[in-house]
Amino acid sequence: MALVGVVVIARAAEESAALAKPPAVVAVRIGRLIAPETASVLAQQLLVIEGDRVKAVGPAAALQSSVPATATLIDLSDYTVLPGLIDCHTHVVSQPEDYYGDRFRKSPIDLAISAHVYARRTVEAGFTTIRNLGAAEYIDLALRRAIDSGKVVGPRMLCAAITLSATGGHGDLNGFSPYLKFDRISGIADGVEGVRKRVRENIKYGADWIKIAASAGVLSEEESVGAPQYSFEEMKAVVEEAKMWGRKVAAHAHGTEAIKIAIRAGVASIEHGSFLDDEAIAMMKERGTWLVADIYNDDYILAEFGRMGYPPKIIEKERLVGRLQRENFQKAVRAGVKVAYGTDAGVYPHGWNGKQFRHMVQWGLTPMQAIQSATTDAADLIGWKDKVGRLVPGYFADFVAVKGDPLADVTLLENVALVVKGGAVVKDARRAK
Ligand code: ARG
Repeated sequence: MALVGVVVIARAAEESAALAKPPAVVAVRIGRLIAPETASVLAQQLLVIEGDRVKAVGPAAALQSSVPATATLIDLSDYTVLPGLIDCHTHVVSQPEDYYGDRFRKSPIDLAISAHVYARRTVEAGFTTIRNLGAAEYIDLALRRAIDSGKVVGPRMLCAAITLSATGGHGDLNGFSPYLKFDRISGIADGVEGVRKRVRENIKYGADWIKIAASAGVLSEEESVGAPQYSFEEMKAVVEEAKMWGRKVAAHAHGTEAIKIAIRAGVASIEHGSFLDDEAIAMMKERGTWLVADIYNDDYILAEFGRMGYPPKIIEKERLVGRLQRENFQKAVRAGVKVAYGTDAGVYPHGWNGKQFRHMVQWGLTPMQAIQSATTDAADLIGWKDKVGRLVPGYFADFVAVKGDPLADVTLLENVALVVKGGAVVKDARRAK
């Protein structure tokens, strides 16, 4: 008994000592700092981090004297630094390997086992925050818990849990025979009452966002690629129910009509947006609806999905959306629709999230706007504009460093040299460069 008491007291003393200990200070010398919040580039800056937050940032000459002698120094005088990147559309728990095997030889447990590998690849690519738009069996929520408690290395996650889908819709992952049932991986919900219940369930288990399949899709079995799959009443109910619980809705929507129904119902973001027309673009502008267009995906799907055994009809559907999606993205950009960076990672390999920058610049954004779409603007969409997306006091100390100037060559963001999340180095490949 006495011994147990001593141990308990010793533990308590240790814990209060840890609590009393001031947080570690890290000082980062920065050659060039890209500040997306002011669309500017600042030379010779010093970033002071205390614990997981930014304490101060400013000209090195002015700040140097305020840094304690005990601070750890990271010297990035030869590098360009920018805030940690944000991908607003990922599926971090899985990625396709083989059409038949993925469907008939694996279960959600396979996904749960390997999800941490993809989480690490994502954060090592410089994406320190993600909005994960759909995962089977609440695996995203489990992954987030493991990351937040420090057991697993990965990005900060906002999760949508299980995507809501109409019976037979884009997210109905049961087989297309009445005798093929893959229980519990699909968020099937039909009718106003049905969708409300599904929203509540997702939120009960920890969803931060609600994801709804408003239209048909490419990588699913329906004939159409873009037909609406929910009525206005159903989508409106989803948005209202989510709002009651303080959540917003992201709508997968390729087809023009589905896009418009979703905008009218009040979703926060249109995902994909392939067949946007002028009216839809005007509606998005008027209501402030975000466009999250995965305009890298087409390259990867056309190059690899045949090899992975995807049925020709799915690849045909991709051919229908690929180029049009990019052209319509450009129209939306020109019209001034708000765009946030989202890639649908998990269609292509995790860790390649940066490959979309090149396309965003090719299809209408300046390199600075592309960076804003993945930092300040993305933070705004996901509801974290007071936490991430810029390196200013009080924000999470999340950043990446690259050699060279990403404003001159945005593809440099495909391979970042250093990643820091919450003041801790996640990846340091500077010597390898
Ligand atoms: N998850 C989406 C779907 O299946 C991927 C679309 C990819 N293609 C594209 N061009 N963005 O519909």
